[in-house]
Amino acid sequence: MSSPGLEGSPIPPTIEWMGDHIRLIDQRRLPDELVLVEVHSVEKLCDLISTLAIRGAPALGAAGAMGVALASLQARDLSEVASMLKATRPTAVNLAWGVDRALAAPDPVAEAVRIAADDVAVNQAIGAHGTAVVPDDARVITHCNTGSLACVGWGTALGVIRSSHDAGRRPSVWVDETRPVLQGARLTAWELQQLGIPATLVVDSMAGSLMAAGEVDLAIVGADRIAANGDVANKIGTYSLAVLARYHEVPFYVAAPTSTIDLATASGSQVVVEERSGSEVVEVGGVRLAPEGMAAQNWAFDITPAELVTGYITEEGVSDRVL
Ligand code: MRU
Repeated sequence: MSSPGLEGSPIPPTIEWMGDHIRLIDQRRLPDELVLVEVHSVEKLCDLISTLAIRGAPALGAAGAMGVALASLQARDLSEVASMLKATRPTAVNLAWGVDRALAAPDPVAEAVRIAADDVAVNQAIGAHGTAVVPDDARVITHCNTGSLACVGWGTALGVIRSSHDAGRRPSVWVDETRPVLQGARLTAWELQQLGIPATLVVDSMAGSLMAAGEVDLAIVGADRIAANGDVANKIGTYSLAVLARYHEVPFYVAAPTSTIDLATASGSQVVVEERSGSEVVEVGGVRLAPEGMAAQNWAFDITPAELVTGYITEEGVSDRVL
């Protein structure tokens, strides 16, 4: 593995620039198979983003930048390509951030490579700062996948857990399965196994009972967009977890790079929440669970009000405010 900061890691970089194309892990195939896909066109990249082969806010930032880099080598209309990429997933601000950074750079390829390298360093700084809020032997609950796979490498919320494990804090993890598409069960569980961090999978609806039983010391989640007032858009189910954490007096932390803070969005009510196909709710892994023709609503993200957040962990430190 060549990416700086990931030497010796059992998990390869999620996305890499290969000189004239992109290589990424196809997360749809995990946990069964670790398959790398070579991407030579922006259309293919947009399809891979839409179908969640690559997902997670920081990974989408790198993907957006590399998409513009690829298009720049192919003499494409870059503003058209930028719009195509941004339209694939509207909630994660990092996607538009990565696209715009590459678009504004004199050399989009160099910028995309820089964004990817910075991502790992930024996440490791988040992990180092976040270790301060993880007590020894902490039982941590987390939601969705915020690990190496959601970034170029290391992870944000899961990166904090990984750093605290490496620092000898002996954390163990309650992994929310994260319906409907099971990023927790498929991806977070896989990553924690690769890293040798003790972890137990639970259905999302068990979080309250775990807290009531005194089995949770801390909740740490990621973010797709943090509004200027501190409201947090993240995977559907995060809001419920935050409400439960407040009721049970469990500290609730959000770990994210500063690139996820969107000062142009005043509050969570202004965030566009991606609506995905109801088929993701009706089916699991292609197997239909509900009766044929059943209507389903599938908001991919929710908004957690700032008042429920104990602290924000960024590469700059831990703070109870975003500004
Ligand atoms: O739909 P996804 O899998 O892209 O959603 C991902 C999340 O909600 C993550 O928590 C968020 O992007 C932060 S990843 C470090």
